[in-house]
Amino acid sequence: MARDVIIFDTTLRDGEQAPGNAMTPEIKQRLARQLDALGVDVIEAGFPAASQGDLRGVQLIGESVHRPIIAALARCHERDIDAAAEALQPAQRKRIHVFIATSDLHLEQKLRIDRDTCLERVRASVRRARGYTSDVEFSAEDATRSDFDFLCRVIAVAIAEGATTINLPDTVGYTTPAEYAALFRAVPERVPEAAPLVLSAHCHDDLGLAVANSLAAIEAGAGQVECTINGIGERAGNAALEEIVMAARIRPQVAAFQCHVNTREIVRTSRLLSHEIGVFPQPNKAIVGRNAFAHEAGIHQHGVLQNGLTYEIIEPETVGAGRSSIVLGKHSGRHALERRYRDLGYEPDAATLEQLYQAFTALADKKRQILDEDLLTLLHDGFQRAPEVYNLTHLRVTCGTDTASAEVQIAGPGFPDRRATATGNGPIAAAFAAIGEAVGRTIEVIDLSVQSVTPGRDSLGRVILQVRVDGKSLSGHGASTDIVEAGARALVHALNKADHADGLETASLSSSYFWGV
Ligand code: KIV
Ligand code: ZN
Repeated sequence: MARDVIIFDTTLRDGEQAPGNAMTPEIKQRLARQLDALGVDVIEAGFPAASQGDLRGVQLIGESVHRPIIAALARCHERDIDAAAEALQPAQRKRIHVFIATSDLHLEQKLRIDRDTCLERVRASVRRARGYTSDVEFSAEDATRSDFDFLCRVIAVAIAEGATTINLPDTVGYTTPAEYAALFRAVPERVPEAAPLVLSAHCHDDLGLAVANSLAAIEAGAGQVECTINGIGERAGNAALEEIVMAARIRPQVAAFQCHVNTREIVRTSRLLSHEIGVFPQPNKAIVGRNAFAHEAGIHQHGVLQNGLTYEIIEPETVGAGRSSIVLGKHSGRHALERRYRDLGYEPDAATLEQLYQAFTALADKKRQILDEDLLTLLHDGFQRAPEVYNLTHLRVTCGTDTASAEVQIAGPGFPDRRATATGNGPIAAAFAAIGEAVGRTIEVIDLSVQSVTPGRDSLGRVILQVRVDGKSLSGHGASTDIVEAGARALVHALNKADHADGLETASLSSSYFWGV
C-alpha cells in the first residue's frame, strides 16, 4: 500500500509573504476553515513575532479550527518562540516551526554569525520550543545550498533537542529533482537519528521545478510536503498543493503516496483564496486555471465529446470543477442566499446579508442565471465593505470617437461627498482621472486586466488593477456588468487599501524585514 504523506499547507504563511497577498486575521480564519474542509494535515497559520495581526490570525485559527495541526513560524530567537507559543495557546493540536539559515552565504551575509553560533542557536531554540509543545519542526533555511557536513551537524543537534520533523527547504528554488532526491536519501544515511523522523520537502518555484522537486523528495522518502494553494508565495511562488495532490491521484504508479485531501474541495479552496486576496491564477494554471478544463481546438472538442479520456486526464468533477451550479434566480429569497453563502464557506452577518441581498437582486435583474462565481464576486468585488474611506456613489461616462469624459461622486464616512469631472483618451482613463481628482491623490496605473466572471454575454466583468497611489503600490479589484464601473470600483478598492490597510501592509512588510535579522 502506498505510503501516507503529510500535507503541510503554508498558504497563510509563506503564501502570504508575497507582495499583494497580505491577509487580515479574519481572512486567514475563513481560509483555514476551508483548508480544514480540504483535508490538509497541517496549517501553517503565520509568523506571530512579525506583527500583532499575524499573532491574532494564529490565535483565531487555533480557536476555531480543531482537526488539523496548527503551526506557527519562529526564528531561532527566544522572543519569536514565545510569541509562537502564545499565539498557539488556544490550538488543540499545535506545532512550533523554528528555522535558521544554514548556508554559508546566509550565515555570513545575512545573519553575520559563524557556524558554531548557528549550532548554538538551534540547540537553544529547539529546546525552548520543546518546552512549549512536543511537536517541533526544525527548518534549515537554504538547505539546498548548504554545506552537506554542516547541514547534517545542524540536523543532529535539532534532533538531539527534540525536533520531530526536519525540513530541508529549497528556499530559492535552486535545486533539481535528482539532486533534491539525493539529499533526502543522503541525510538519513549520514544522520541515522533522522531516519525514523519525518523529513519534509519545501520547494520554491524560481526555476519552475517546485512540484517536480517535491515529488522527487517524496519518492526519496520525504514524509511531509509543504505547499500552497495556487502555488502562491514569494517571487515565483511555492509548490502548488493541487498539483502535488493530483499527481498522486492521477499517477499512483509513479507518484506513489496517499494523503487525506478531499480533491473535490480543490477548486472551491482555490477560488476562495483568489477572491480573498484579489490574486487569480493565470488562465493556463494546472488544475485551477480557468482554462484547465477548456477545450478550444475543434479536434480536441470532438475527441472529448466522444470520450473524455482522449484529451482530459482529470475529470473536472474530481477537483470540484464541474459546471458551476445555477444556484439562484430572481425569485430566490434571503434564506436561500444565506444558505448558499454558507455552502461556499461564508457566514455573513445580518447587515452584510442584507447588502448582499440588495446587490443580488440588482444583479438578477441584469443577469438570468446567478452562479457561485457571481455570488463570490458580489461578496468580494461587488460592494464596498466597512470600514471604507471612499465609496463610489455615482459614475457617468460619455465616450465615443472623441475624447471621453467622466463625472464621479465619491462619498465616505469622514468627509462630505465629493464630485469631480475629468476627460481621458477612453472611458476608463476618464473615470480614473475623475476619481483621482475627487480624492486628491496621484494615481498611476501599472497594470489593468479584464476578465469575465462566468461564461455568457450577460456575465459580470471583473477588473483587476495594480496602481501606484501617491507612490505606493497597491492592487484592487471590482466587478460589475459594466466594465467601466468595474474599473472604477477596482480603483476605489485600491484607494481604500491605501488608507485603511496601512497596518496590514506594514504587517506583511515587517515579516520581510524580520527575515534577515
Ligand atoms: O523557504 C524557506 O526556507 C522557508 C522556511 C522558513 C521554511 O519558508
Ligand atoms: Zn519558503
